[in-house]
Amino acid sequence: MTNQNSASPASAPDVVKQRPPRILSGIQPSGQLTIGNYLGALKQWAALQSQYDSFYCIVDMHAITVPQDPAELREASVRNAALYLACGLETKHCTIFIQSHVSAHSELGWILNCMTPMGWLNRMTQFKDKSAKMQADSIGSGLFTYPTLMAADILLYQTDLVPVGDDQKQHVELTRDLAQRFNSMYGETFTIPNVMIPVAGARVMGLDTPTAKMSKSEKADGHAVFLLDPLDKVRKKIMRATTDSDRVIKFSTDPERAGVNNLLTIYQAFTERSREDIEAQFDSKGYGDLKKTVAEAVAEGLKPIQERYNQLMGEKGYIYEVLKKSADRANEVASTTLDLVRDRIGFVKPLR
Ligand code: TYM
Repeated sequence: MTNQNSASPASAPDVVKQRPPRILSGIQPSGQLTIGNYLGALKQWAALQSQYDSFYCIVDMHAITVPQDPAELREASVRNAALYLACGLETKHCTIFIQSHVSAHSELGWILNCMTPMGWLNRMTQFKDKSAKMQADSIGSGLFTYPTLMAADILLYQTDLVPVGDDQKQHVELTRDLAQRFNSMYGETFTIPNVMIPVAGARVMGLDTPTAKMSKSEKADGHAVFLLDPLDKVRKKIMRATTDSDRVIKFSTDPERAGVNNLLTIYQAFTERSREDIEAQFDSKGYGDLKKTVAEAVAEGLKPIQERYNQLMGEKGYIYEVLKKSADRANEVASTTLDLVRDRIGFVKPLR
């Protein structure tokens, strides 16, 4: 894993200096989670959890920046909580909570909105990509201000590290800029967070279109492997993945070789082996061998996750219990920061 901003100094207000380092990250409960979400986010969350006080959020307020079916949103939120646990997150290390259960997120999101220059938001490539696929009059303003709510998520917990896939790097950079701006306007308030991007799996590409990021909202059947796909379907999807007419099995940045590179990257991320090792393994092998081997590695990686998930979904009471306890802890931490922010910007302290 690379810590891309590690050279930047972290700062923290006095109230938070005496504590273990913190992580915050989140995934939207929209649709089914993909192996992109797993390799870019969940897998590294699990790997980091024992070294940090970790906050992992189910960001339902981000999900509603595009239309959602209420019943599906509710179901996807609980399903994501179960998947976080099934992917190895442990409650002794992690606070796993639903964003809308902690109202401080909306409040700080609004405050940050008021001090974010429009020009900063105009530069966000994710907004440009998402809005380009929508009718102009159906684009909600929440999609535009999505990054300020994400900044609120991160800054409320005085977060040191934000493990995410490559596509979220720009949002974390905006968060750093906002925190620095706030601190210089009002005095030390927020910790400046660093982004962490995994070495392998930072940008898993679509199996059908290996030049585009694998996305949970893409409808084409052969595009994404979902964490809860039946394992036979996982294998079939990988066997049908787009490759090229060449025969070389090597990691490559050539767009013509994007399909093979993507399969190798997925394999590297699941097996945690070196590139050299992997290239040697496939030396003088064909694309059929490559696909079969990758399909098996992915199926093997997903099997225990699916088993644990099915078990957890049979114990929904436990999941609600985890979410309740976590929301209490998250509320406690978030409200400390929010109180400080309210004071800094000149809001009158309410009588308690
Ligand atoms: P979301 O749900 O779009 O993505 C969740 C996480 O999965 C990663 N990811 C990928 N990684 C590698 N390859 C892919 N194809 C791929 N697709 C998705 C994303 O980079 C992300 O880490 N805006 C965030 C959610 C969020 C958040 C936060 C994250 C809200 N508040 C605070 C960190 C901190 C998002 O992208 O969700």
